[in-house]
Amino acid sequence: MAKSLREAIEILERKGLVIRIHDSVSKMHEIPSLMQELESRFAVFFENIEGYEEFRLISGIYGDRRRLSVTLGLKDEREIYDALNNAIKNPISPKKESVDFDINLVNEEVDLRKIPIPTFYEKDKGPYITAGIVIAKDIDSGARNASYHRMTPISKNRLVMRVVERDLWAFIMRAREAGKNLDAAVVIGVDPATAIAAATTLPIYEDELEVANSLLSGELSVTNGLKTNVEYPSNAEIVLEGEIITDALEEEGPFVDITGTYDTIRKQPVFKVHAIRMKNKPIFHAILPAGSEHKTLMGLPREAKIFNLVKEVTVLKDVYLTDWGCGWLECVMSIKKRHKDEPINAGMAAITAHPSVKKVIVVDDDINIRDCKEVYWAVITRSNPAKDYVIIPRAKGSTLDHSGEPRSKIIIDATIKGERSLFEKGVIPRNSRVKEILKKLKR
Ligand SMILES: Cc1cc2nc3c(=O)[nH]c(=O)nc-3n(C[C@H](O)[C@H](O)[C@H](O)COP(=O)(O)O)c2cc1C
Repeated sequence: MAKSLREAIEILERKGLVIRIHDSVSKMHEIPSLMQELESRFAVFFENIEGYEEFRLISGIYGDRRRLSVTLGLKDEREIYDALNNAIKNPISPKKESVDFDINLVNEEVDLRKIPIPTFYEKDKGPYITAGIVIAKDIDSGARNASYHRMTPISKNRLVMRVVERDLWAFIMRAREAGKNLDAAVVIGVDPATAIAAATTLPIYEDELEVANSLLSGELSVTNGLKTNVEYPSNAEIVLEGEIITDALEEEGPFVDITGTYDTIRKQPVFKVHAIRMKNKPIFHAILPAGSEHKTLMGLPREAKIFNLVKEVTVLKDVYLTDWGCGWLECVMSIKKRHKDEPINAGMAAITAHPSVKKVIVVDDDINIRDCKEVYWAVITRSNPAKDYVIIPRAKGSTLDHSGEPRSKIIIDATIKGERSLFEKGVIPRNSRVKEILKKLKR
């Protein structure tokens, strides 16, 4: 199990899952363009960033279930849901230590232009940090939160960050009411357990770093900062220490989000940086917006949640937030139904577990739900729209869905009703001679 980003890279490299780019490449579109081509299959390690020779950059390191499970030390990727759910049930407080970083830039030395923050898409507002995990503490309860927030520099030492109305937002509001700013640290380039735990939504007073530590069997340590009272994972490659200014908002966006389309421009909170701390030859972690790493990190904890709730109402085989549904807005589940209407209950449970989902398709357990063609074959052959498409006309949806208010949902029951033999695919028998011929052709 990897205890740091560097260990994660080593583990994947031994499995042939890392591609190293030795050529000098620019952080302006060139690195993102190579990421887009490669990160769905490999972690991409850029060794030579034009103008930033002292840095390296990694992308796609946690880019699919296999890469994530391998770096978490799991034998089978299907163990991820159980590992995450167990860690959520059994959080462990990380141990505290005081760790020195090799590079420490404080106050006037802070200059965000010294970090190779990529500019991704053509019409993006500018460069932005996509793998920044914000660690903050509630001023009332002392509860800690860790969550991802994209952030873009608006000066040498200030960034504007997108904060959806969840736990960090609540912490900011509370500090604002008390007339205070909110101390925070942004960590970039962490171990896989912290990377996945920070993408998990827990009840407000539960701590994602305790979940990460549980996943890491108690091996996560946090260090105190130079300029903040918030402790953060000591394995981080790069840390921005500072405070969220609670009485001023700045324009944020437009930036491409998980849907692959541009998100709207909003007024959002500002983070003021008082110190930058880095390891020697720091590795900047960049997640390609709408790429497979973005979908894996955001989608997997939601799948684990859906799994937990849906298995209360039916016999659930598999769940998938589809890649073709932006890894976020469409969910397919395969079940072994016991009652004719159970698929609809399963769909409602999935929507409760993951309110951003817009469409839920429920299929039988003979369908491979990771294959788009197979799923839509089941929809078209096994469902009758007037009866099997259930529309929920109004419910909470995703802030990333710009198709109009009120948000609505659809559940499609694409399971077999009636005589099974009428709904099963015909099979051509394949003997060993045919298999041998096909093998030869493949070679
Ligand atoms: C790569 C990635 C980028 C994300 N970007 C943002 C973001 O910009 N703003 C935001 O509010 N949430 C973002 N999220 C989602 C939250 O970090 C995530 O849902 C988290 O669980 C919310 O935590 P909370 O419920 O404890 O606040 C992102 C998640 C991932 C994995």
